[in-house]
Amino acid sequence: MPKVAFAFLELMPFAVCERVHGMSKLIIDGGYRLNGEVRVHGAKNSALPVLTATLLCPGVNIIHNCPKLSDVEATLKILTHLGCKCHREQDTVVVDSSDIVNCDIPDELMREMRSSIVFLGAIAARCGYAKLSSPGGCELGPRPIDLHLSSLRQMGLVIDESHGYLECTVEKSLVGTEINLSLPSVGATENIMLAATTAKGKTVIHNAAREPEISDLADFLNSAGACIHGAGTGTIEIIGVDPKTMHGTEHTVIPDRIIAATYMAAAAITRGCVVLKDIIPSHIAPVLSSFKEAGCDINIWDRTLKITAPPQLGRIRQIRTLPFPGFPTDAGPPVLAMTTIANGSSMFVENVFENRFKYVDELKRLGAVISVSGRVAVVDGVKSLSGASVVATDLRGGAALVVAGLAAQGTTTIDEIRHIDRGYENIELSLSSLGAKIKRE
Ligand code: UD1
Repeated sequence: MPKVAFAFLELMPFAVCERVHGMSKLIIDGGYRLNGEVRVHGAKNSALPVLTATLLCPGVNIIHNCPKLSDVEATLKILTHLGCKCHREQDTVVVDSSDIVNCDIPDELMREMRSSIVFLGAIAARCGYAKLSSPGGCELGPRPIDLHLSSLRQMGLVIDESHGYLECTVEKSLVGTEINLSLPSVGATENIMLAATTAKGKTVIHNAAREPEISDLADFLNSAGACIHGAGTGTIEIIGVDPKTMHGTEHTVIPDRIIAATYMAAAAITRGCVVLKDIIPSHIAPVLSSFKEAGCDINIWDRTLKITAPPQLGRIRQIRTLPFPGFPTDAGPPVLAMTTIANGSSMFVENVFENRFKYVDELKRLGAVISVSGRVAVVDGVKSLSGASVVATDLRGGAALVVAGLAAQGTTTIDEIRHIDRGYENIELSLSSLGAKIKRE
């Protein structure tokens, strides 16, 4: 059982940031050099599956370093609907999953966050039945879930897809099997791990996603009684355990490598010097060579990274986004924004999502020169950007606009920042603490 006192259990239901649903905007007065030290908060993409996994761990689960983000809030709402008792005390979220009363996710909760599809494996494993509305497409192009569904079907889940719903039944029990993923989908790997944790027998995932968030989920589940080997490699083996042996546990979410890359891009584009606290060097490694190619000086010690930008950024010849350990697709937009004022042209090839360049038109409003053809964007660096009114089209595209706005002369107003609030906790406070002129209105 967890060691921490539960005194704060009574304090408050999970904190709801009302403002994230408002019509707020970010207003940036660009041209100020970033300087100072900032802590990188917990990873959204780890917190979401870990919170989902608490369903498999009846009892009290204490999750530290859980960022205050609208996507985390949406996950807590789903857990609460299912019957969990959720409380937040600063960065720690407590989920008591002893009693589950529902096995469905209502449409309105499913719409808040399409990645809630990873609840499917967990609810089916815990309840033997699950009903979710189909998540559909999203702003990055069609985001199919075929691999999730075919893998869970291979494990014995009977899935009926009709009228926009997925109705799923476990006939006897979920059974372990060998699954070959045609591509290393992060979400599908997580869904299979969740379903396999208490399935009968052994599940082996071939071509599994190797992202650090997968290892974090495995660490959480193992500390709650699961038996998972090989997370972080392309082959993950899960020996199903008796559901009764799973129990509540305590876990600290890994730091967010995409936030780190975003702050690095923000430091670089403003010719600043920033120290990032709480990073895991091996998680950041895939982006380092690009920052170095642009002329940034990078020092890493312990869990700390210092980036010092050159007076004039150089171009980055080519970035190809790939599954981990390749350059992360989510870091593409902020780094692309950084190259808009680099000396020369930089090329970005997006290999993970089909439609990731929507934000480019907004960057052009700030004076960036970018041409997009299918999955390739070529950025011709300009001398300077100038402030304008822009709209965040998606989470990381929104972060790209913030990065560009920090360097643009004059005022940049960013609308639809609810997208940014899905993944960046109080972005304006962190950047202000580094000397940026940025506020929420
Ligand atoms: C996760 C991350 C997201 C990140 C992405 C890739 C979360 C909550 N989100 O998303 O921030 O950008 O990994 O690193 O962790 N695909 C299929 N069929 C499927 C599943 C996926 O064709 O059944 C395709 C997708 O359309 C996409 C690619 O595979 O083109 C990668 O998707 P996936 O790795 O599944 O990303 P997510 O888990 O959705």
